[in-house]
This record gives sequence, C-alpha cells and structure tokens, in this order.
Amino acid sequence: MSIRVLINGANGRMGKASVAAITADPELELVGTTSRGDDLANAIKKSHAEVVVDFTNAEAVQESTRTIIAANAHPVIGTSGLLMPQIVEFQAACKKAQLGGIIAPNFSLGAVLLMKHAQEIAKYFSHVEIIEMHHDGKLDSPSGTALRTAEMLAVNFKPAQTTKKTKETIPGARGAMHHQIPIHSVRLPGLVAHEQVIFGDTGETLTLRHDSIDRIAFMPGVRLACKKVVTLKELVYGLEHVL
Ligand SMILES: NC(=O)c1ccc[n+]([C@@H]2O[C@H](COP(=O)([O-])OP(=O)(O)OC[C@H]3O[C@@H](n4cnc5c(N)ncnc54)[C@H](O)[C@@H]3O)[C@@H](O)[C@H]2O)c1
Repeated sequence: MSIRVLINGANGRMGKASVAAITADPELELVGTTSRGDDLANAIKKSHAEVVVDFTNAEAVQESTRTIIAANAHPVIGTSGLLMPQIVEFQAACKKAQLGGIIAPNFSLGAVLLMKHAQEIAKYFSHVEIIEMHHDGKLDSPSGTALRTAEMLAVNFKPAQTTKKTKETIPGARGAMHHQIPIHSVRLPGLVAHEQVIFGDTGETLTLRHDSIDRIAFMPGVRLACKKVVTLKELVYGLEHVL
C-alpha cells in the first residue's frame, strides 16, 4: 500500500519539484495539490491524505501546519520561517495526538552533513560566522538552514570572551545574531541555495561550504521524510532524525 501524499504550495518551485518526485515514487501516491487560496483542511479531508508536504512561505506556514495537525495528517514541513516557540508548540500538539511529523530546514543530504560536522568542529573553535546565499526570489532571511545551523553549533560553541569595542558604521553590517553567531544573508539571481560556515582562530580559518545547485537535491530527503513520518509518534526537527 502506498502512502497518500498531498502537496501544499504545489505551484511553487519546490512544490513542482515535489509533485514530480512523489509521482515518480512507487511507495508514494500523490492524492492532492493545493495552492494559495485553496481550502487546505477540506482538501486533506476529501483526498484522505496521510501526509501533507508544505512548501509555501513564511507568512503561510504557521497556519498551514496548524491545519495539517488539526486534520490528523502527518506534516512534512520544508517551508522556512518557523521560529523555536512555534516549533515547540507544534511538537506539543503532535505529541498529544501521537502524530509523527517533521520540520526540516533543509532536505539535502549535503547540508545536513555540513551542519552535523560544523557542530563537532564548534567544540574546538571560539569564533564562527555563517554566510547563507540564495536566489533573489527567497522571501525570508536568514534562511531556515542558517538558523538551524546556528542552533546546532550553539550546542558545542563557546564564544570567545572579548572586551573589544566594535561599532557598526551602518547598522546590520555585522549580520543578524542567533545564539551569539552572526548570520549574513546574500540574495542574488543565479544562486540556488548555498551556505558557508567559517570558523576562525589564531592564524587559521576553517570553512565548510555546501551548494545546492538544483532543487532535485532536496527530493530524496522529501521522499524519505514522507515514508518515515507515518512510523513516528512525534514531530522531529531536522532531517538528521530520520536518516
Ligand atoms: N527545507 C528545504 O530543504 C527547502 C529547500 C528549498 C526551499 N525551501 C523553502 O520552501 C519554501 C518554498 O520555496 P519555493 O522556492 O518553492 O517558493 P515559491 O515562492 O516558488 O513557492 C511558494 C508557493 O507557495 C504558494 N503559497 C503562498 N501562500 C500559500 C498558502 N497560504 N497556501 C498554499 N500555497 C501558498 C505560493 O503561491 C507559491 O506558489 C520557502 O520557505 C523556502 O525557503 C526549503
């Protein structure tokens, strides 16, 4: 029996790639697609979708995740823009309903491996900054991947104590701070999704870099997530939990 999947945000770049990926997978069945203005709750009910993949935008994702959980469907949330308090709220709701799901800031294997190794390296360096670069159609910044990277680094990272007084001549020049780690966001046509984590210490730097050059890179992770969530009884945050 294949797993019944509905895709929300199906007309977008990631939505279209997901429609093709789910359709091509014999273990998954695409039973519905929804776009801006559609009634998601009704579409889930009518299609009997077991899993709902969400690739919408930062303004829509909170409401759509709530709708998916209320409909007792397994959420596979790829949309970025959710912050920790919202994620914790959704985890509590899924735990109460014994409902498996995933919020994955990045579905590509390479990006997940970058985060995992960056977390390990953070034990040994006391300075680190993140540069994330995306296409100019990306609405939110910093990226969900950069936020998640900073959160994973923070587990092991002890920032250097400094008394140096620095001044931003133009506000924002030093990036946005998350867990005391500066994040710099670049938006340019020609880019897809790229991230660098740069560690620094006396006389040396160490750079980890990941480049998604095609959205197809996210699809094995999306398909895997659709298959794993139906076996879970909780909402996990990060693809590493189902690899
Ligand atoms: N997790 C990952 O691996 C990963 C990878 C790439 C992109 N993303 C994220 O996925 C999201 C989508 O990216 P994209 O490049 O496809 O964007 P996009 O702008 O091409 O597509 C978003 C789609 O969502 C639709 N939409 C907006 N509000 C909606 C609503 N309320 N209900 C249903 N549909 C709605 C839009 O009309 C659009 O078609 C972004 O948040 C992006 O950052 C995540």
